[in-house]
Amino acid sequence: MAIECKNITFGYSKDNILFKNISFSVDYGERVGIVAKSGFGKSTLAKIIAGYEKPLSGEIIVDGKPITKKGYNPVQLIYQHPEKAINPMWKMEKVLLEENVLNDYIINSLGIKKEWLKRYPTELSGGELQRFSVARALCENTKFIIADEITTMVDPITQSQIWHFLIEECQKRNMGMIIVTHNMYLAEKICTRIINLEDMALE
Ligand SMILES: Nc1ncnc2c1ncn2[C@@H]1O[C@H](COP(=O)(O)OP(=O)(O)OP(=O)(O)O)[C@@H](O)[C@H]1O
Ligand SMILES: [Mg+2]
Repeated sequence: MAIECKNITFGYSKDNILFKNISFSVDYGERVGIVAKSGFGKSTLAKIIAGYEKPLSGEIIVDGKPITKKGYNPVQLIYQHPEKAINPMWKMEKVLLEENVLNDYIINSLGIKKEWLKRYPTELSGGELQRFSVARALCENTKFIIADEITTMVDPITQSQIWHFLIEECQKRNMGMIIVTHNMYLAEKICTRIINLEDMALE
């Protein structure tokens, strides 16, 4: 029960609640799929679990302790929109260096070309940039990955390359994974368990 979401209720304003009392836990080695319709609040929940947004009530517990903002975050969120998450002022090489993941194995496994390292985020396609956000999440101290619709902008071959690598890394390091997707076919292929938030959040 390494990550526990306990009775999470959230709304961007108090009179407009997105979801109520969401509870589930994810263990090491698990790959849990989160599905719900568009606009339900999946990306919002992903940010709450990673500690970037505070729930109105409820708590996120990681290894028995509430998630804190201190130090390296063991819960790494890979965003649905990588262009919003990567510092536009930094070349890609610096982005990877900062997380200490500038290594050939990660770069090659994700199909990152060496020439891309000298570019800024705006000089890459969405799919190229997304590979960097996957790489960046794989720092040595990462214990959980939250993948929010991370392969919607890439072709099926790149999609399977990214998932193959991520799943292998998760297994090797015994990380837990939360996978947010609309794609039930993908969820069934890669997840060890699937949670439908719409069933859970009914009052
Ligand atoms: N910062 C914000 N302030 C106010 N409302 C927001 C904010 N971010 C998102 N919303 C709203 O909250 C709702 C949930 O958004 P969210 O992005 O979490 O949905 P989602 O389930 O991830 O959708 P999708 O499947 O389309 O990615 C949406 O109606 C959205 O417009
Ligand atoms: Mg979303």
